[in-house]
Amino acid sequence: MKKTILTGLRPTGNLHLGHYFGAGKTWCNIQDDYDFYLEIADVQALTDNFNNPEKVRQNVYEITKDLLAIGLDPNKVNFFIQSQISEIAELTVFYSNLVTVSRLQRNPTVKTEIAQKKELFGNNGESITYGFLGYPVSQAADITCFSGEVVPVGEDQLPLLEQCREIVRKFNSIYGETLIEPEQLLSTTPRIKGLDGNDKMGKSLGNAIYFVDDEKTINNKIMGAITDPSKLKKDDPANPDICMVYYYHKLVNNEENISKVCSECKKGERGCVQCKKELIDAMNEFLKPIKEKRKYYDEHPEVVDKILEEGTNKAKEKAKETINNVKKAMKINY
Ligand code: TRP
Repeated sequence: MKKTILTGLRPTGNLHLGHYFGAGKTWCNIQDDYDFYLEIADVQALTDNFNNPEKVRQNVYEITKDLLAIGLDPNKVNFFIQSQISEIAELTVFYSNLVTVSRLQRNPTVKTEIAQKKELFGNNGESITYGFLGYPVSQAADITCFSGEVVPVGEDQLPLLEQCREIVRKFNSIYGETLIEPEQLLSTTPRIKGLDGNDKMGKSLGNAIYFVDDEKTINNKIMGAITDPSKLKKDDPANPDICMVYYYHKLVNNEENISKVCSECKKGERGCVQCKKELIDAMNEFLKPIKEKRKYYDEHPEVVDKILEEGTNKAKEKAKETINNVKKAMKINY
């Protein structure tokens, strides 16, 4: 029997290389080994985009197409839309009794996010909504609804998983052994840096390469990448380890080219413009199969609809089982 894995994404924007190297690539590699549920977390996206439903709706499709394009196989991965599984909302209400408001306020992930969203939640989080503060509860419902045993996460999501485990333990201790306590599959890839040298590639930082970027956009982004600032002339020797162009060569180029770039750079045998042009070629080569797949799904929206519909139906079956067990345990199975 394969273990059940569950992960989710907020549909708030397209996928970029940071998502791919930080998470998506691993998901592709393990899709054969697990019973894989992939949630498009539109309800969670609405917790901080409630005033922009059109954006969330559009990105449900964008993100699904991006995920299919990077190589997740809909025959192996069960794609589903959170809002269509009403059982998740029910579980969220039941679990909300098992967590204190102060515990949620102390959750490091939630704290960081509130601080980043001053426009929405106020300078000191004084306008925080009940929904946003409670999204870790809803995320615990996401996981347990499908008896998720394993949750692939990055560091930033660990407090949310811990919150989920606490809810599970509390539920089981009050109502009897019903829910499964999930374990984490911690991402081993470090954060992908931005082309600007920032430690993180991110949408809000404006330093990301997206799978939907066209060649001209990629060209401009790479030409603007940060290189060793001490290198002024084409034949100055430089340090590739502090150059973002070399960093990206290492992500998308082949071994032979990578070592060539490295040694020529150190010896002052290559100029940065040449090096960037070669990176543009390597990047386009790397993105080519992904973009071809993406194009197929763009041209066949009915295929995407069907994948989401079938995945959501399958998820619904599992969710019904869970909600029956939960209601029975809570003695509300009238
Ligand atoms: N909170 C996650 C994020 O912001 C998305 C998410 C929703 C999720 N439900 C989940 C992740 C369940 C893991 C498990 O990226």
